[in-house]
Amino acid sequence: MGAIALYARPSAAYGEKLAATRALLLRAATEFAPVTQASSLGAEDVVITHLINSLAVDIPVFVLETGTLHPQTLELLERTVATSRVPVNVYRPVQEHVVRFVEREGAEAMYRSIELRKACCHLRKMEPLERALAGHRAWITGLRREQSNARADVPAIDTSDARRVKINPLADWTNGDVWHYIASNAVDYNPLHDEFYPSIGCAPCTRAVAVGEDFRAGRWWWEDEAAKECGLHVKDNQESATA
Ligand code: ADX
Ligand code: SF4
Repeated sequence: MGAIALYARPSAAYGEKLAATRALLLRAATEFAPVTQASSLGAEDVVITHLINSLAVDIPVFVLETGTLHPQTLELLERTVATSRVPVNVYRPVQEHVVRFVEREGAEAMYRSIELRKACCHLRKMEPLERALAGHRAWITGLRREQSNARADVPAIDTSDARRVKINPLADWTNGDVWHYIASNAVDYNPLHDEFYPSIGCAPCTRAVAVGEDFRAGRWWWEDEAAKECGLHVKDNQESATA
């Protein structure tokens, strides 16, 4: 059974949420310009890119291509670059840093300690993220409140970081809303979602989940719940609590 058959069930307020999301993206493109969308090519992000393209707003997309993504994700990236009306910019880690880290710590360093996992996330995601966000007043993400306890309070517009506004246009969407949008707009998505990967990151740090398991159970599954963020969305106060 594929992800659409499993999940596509709109919530009662779906129509209103969709209208509010469209309005927020239009507002973002003017009030918060220059703004860019961060896409992992996961279900939420393909919905947002589809909305950006259909609204014809000037919001480019960026993807952090960590060098450890699944082949299915890389193929979706290629299709997205080819079909998107807005530019899709790809950011990669500094190759020399990756080579040195892998030579020193091995390709499976992330499983040995949280420190090594964070070091890998730093050089493959955080440093390229800084480059991707340079010169932008705001960025758009696919964070939803339902995704985890750590995300339960995600606002639609997050101004807590003085450097840059973070806009979360799907903050109040359910997983059913996301998949209803994908189904009703025939949005291209990562086929791993049809193989019980509800949340997809780098290949070494993502696995399929079993029936009844939490959405994010397949991410950094060997770590405690509190540590399970790669740094992309960790606030300063959370970072010190989980470091
Ligand atoms: S993570 O912090 O655990 O990796 P998650 O996979 O849930 O995050 O994605 C949350 C949001 O972070 C995505 O909707 C997207 O906006 C951004 N994001 C995550 N990974 C990437 C990536 N590789 N490239 C660009 N944006 C990303
Ligand atoms: Fe490295 Fe895993 Fe972090 Fe990807 S998610 S950057 S492979 S530790």
